[in-house]
Amino acid sequence: MKEPFILSPSLLSADFGRLAEELDALEDAGLTWVHLDVMDGLFVPNITFGPPIIKRLRQKSRLFFDTHLMIERPERYLAEFRDAGADLICVHAEATAHLERACAEIARLGARPAVALNPATPLSAVEYLLPQLDMVLVMSVNPGFGGQSFIPFCMDKIRDLRAMIRKRGLVTHIQVDGGVTPDNTPALLAAGADILVSGSAFFGHPPYGERLRTFYAAARAEST
Ligand code: DX5
Ligand code: ZN
Repeated sequence: MKEPFILSPSLLSADFGRLAEELDALEDAGLTWVHLDVMDGLFVPNITFGPPIIKRLRQKSRLFFDTHLMIERPERYLAEFRDAGADLICVHAEATAHLERACAEIARLGARPAVALNPATPLSAVEYLLPQLDMVLVMSVNPGFGGQSFIPFCMDKIRDLRAMIRKRGLVTHIQVDGGVTPDNTPALLAAGADILVSGSAFFGHPPYGERLRTFYAAARAEST
């Protein structure tokens, strides 16, 4: 049976002392993506990990590395993240004055370019960039921490973004990150999201294979 959407588990909620084993467990459970939250203590108040750790994990995992850069002026580090093994690189619209240049550079490096928008950032920030993006990440919490609650107005934002993408005849992916659970999964998919990030609502409920099936079942129950 075809998967109803891509679930990208956020490693932020995994056991940081056993990252390689956590990646193995995800692969064994049938996941294909993992979401890597990179934080610099400046763009967001928290600090996580950077290219050296991603590089070591790359040597141990075949998962698709969905790399969410919550760092100021990400253009300084794009080549390093690509060299480390990032498959997709997502930069925040609020973090750079030269968003188009950053996205063009990600594509030139051979990774999939994506842009993240904080909850209050309007969709117009990415409108003209859509044709050159693989994905737009709609943040549904203020970035920096796992375990926060979904901000309700983000549902309208996803719907508006899907309409904007469709109107232009594009197939850009929409990823949602923050407060995603099996409960709100059907509404997120109906609004137009097709890649969901989940941290606490995923890693807090092992075994991972069963949790993945709970998310899929929630999506299928609603669509039948
Ligand atoms: C938040 C991060 C998210 C976070 C999501 O700043 O970008 O990826 O891990 O965690 P949950 O799913 O717990 O809201
Ligand atoms: Zn994230």
